Amino acid sequence: MPEATQAPTDVFEKARTHERAEQLKAAKEADLLPYFRLIESEAGPLMEIEGNEKVMLGSNNYVGLTGDDRVKQAARDALERYGTGLTGSRLLNGTIPLHVELERELADWLGTEDALTFTTGYQVNLGTIGTILEPGDTVICDSGDHASILDGCRLSGAHLRPFRHNQLDKLEKMLDRAAGDGGGVLVIVDGVFSMEGDIAPLPGIAELCERYGARLMVDEAHGVGVLGARGVGASELLGVEDRVDLRMGTFSKSLASCGGFIAGPADVVEYLKISARAFMFTASAVPSAVGAALAALRIIRGPDGPELLAKLLDNAAYLHRGLSDLGLEVVEPTRLDDGTDVITPIVPVVVGEDWQAVMLWKALFDAGVYTNVALHPAVPPGGALLRTSLMATHERRHLRPRPRRLRRHPVPLAPRRPADGSTGTFVRPALTHAGGFPLVQIRTRGGRRRKPC
Ligand SMILES: Cc1ncc(COP(=O)(O)O)c(C=O)c1O
Repeated sequence: MPEATQAPTDVFEKARTHERAEQLKAAKEADLLPYFRLIESEAGPLMEIEGNEKVMLGSNNYVGLTGDDRVKQAARDALERYGTGLTGSRLLNGTIPLHVELERELADWLGTEDALTFTTGYQVNLGTIGTILEPGDTVICDSGDHASILDGCRLSGAHLRPFRHNQLDKLEKMLDRAAGDGGGVLVIVDGVFSMEGDIAPLPGIAELCERYGARLMVDEAHGVGVLGARGVGASELLGVEDRVDLRMGTFSKSLASCGGFIAGPADVVEYLKISARAFMFTASAVPSAVGAALAALRIIRGPDGPELLAKLLDNAAYLHRGLSDLGLEVVEPTRLDDGTDVITPIVPVVVGEDWQAVMLWKALFDAGVYTNVALHPAVPPGGALLRTSLMATHERRHLRPRPRRLRRHPVPLAPRRPADGSTGTFVRPALTHAGGFPLVQIRTRGGRRRKPC
């Protein structure tokens, strides 16, 4: 290096000095880290985690099919027939008959002209959005949309116009502005929002898209295999399937595998096949994953499907009632225009500050209940959630509080809505065992902010 030149900044520096480094270190030392916990058994309502049995309330295995004998057999059959991996992209040497069958069956299920499977759902959003849009176009997305949507938008170079979560008037404002941008316009929303489990007002969104001549894409990652009479998702439940241009879904939730799909017009799917880099320049999913997804899809479409979906939503309603009865601030089901409430398998408890959520998570973990913690940036600052999620295979005994266990593992902190409905304040940790969940009061909030997309 010439003497006069300043030493360059070490690009690794951020790994040592990032804003969460201290917090992370302290959490690790106190064994409070809610992430990267070791799962040591098959996914199900009860799981072995780090040497102990836990009730699993933190899985996206909504229909509980990852342990189904038929799905496992299909994965085994695919493994035996095609081997452990395909070692190449779909385009060149990674397409097997199972892909074609799965894509045909997905299109039939969704009622679209065609469908295309990717190696993960993340890649579906990256590949589809990043290819369909280009600089000069405008993309309008909900502030609660999944990170993979945002990453696809960034990759595309299109002008990003976010609107406040589920606010149709804000969407309209963005559509109005986009009309002056000069390019094509695509609106993208989650059908079911991944952290809070609420549902997008799709009929209103579709109407606005039609009025402004914009295309509409719905991410049904948490809707497929969950909502609607056929289990196709929020678009089906809300009666707008034929008004949505593109629907994406993943196999990593109800479909009990790994991978994802985009479904829509045949010409668009054909274009993605030869243009989407996240599809073309990566290895195809392993055969057992494709076989498992196909078997799970057939179960959901088959005679067992309606009962599984009904059981799943019944479990969600049961847990929602139980947690609300304890005075916890639970995100409410979505109220439709006709006054019906729609519950989804995602039942989040609003906690508030990150450390409060972590303490509550750890107390439940020690008491034998596994949940997920959503901290900023997954949620807005001060909006930490304990995200519980249900499976069709949960029994009532898994969802009832377990007072004895909890007594053995005192909980230092948990949120509680004050009985008089007023804003609570954080009080010194004090243990009660109301209803089996140990509770102390913390601040509860009325309106919740969401971060922009
Ligand atoms: C709404 C949403 N879209 C897309 C994805 C990505 O799916 P996958 O896990 O299959 O990559 C997820 C995963 O969590 C999601 O929640």
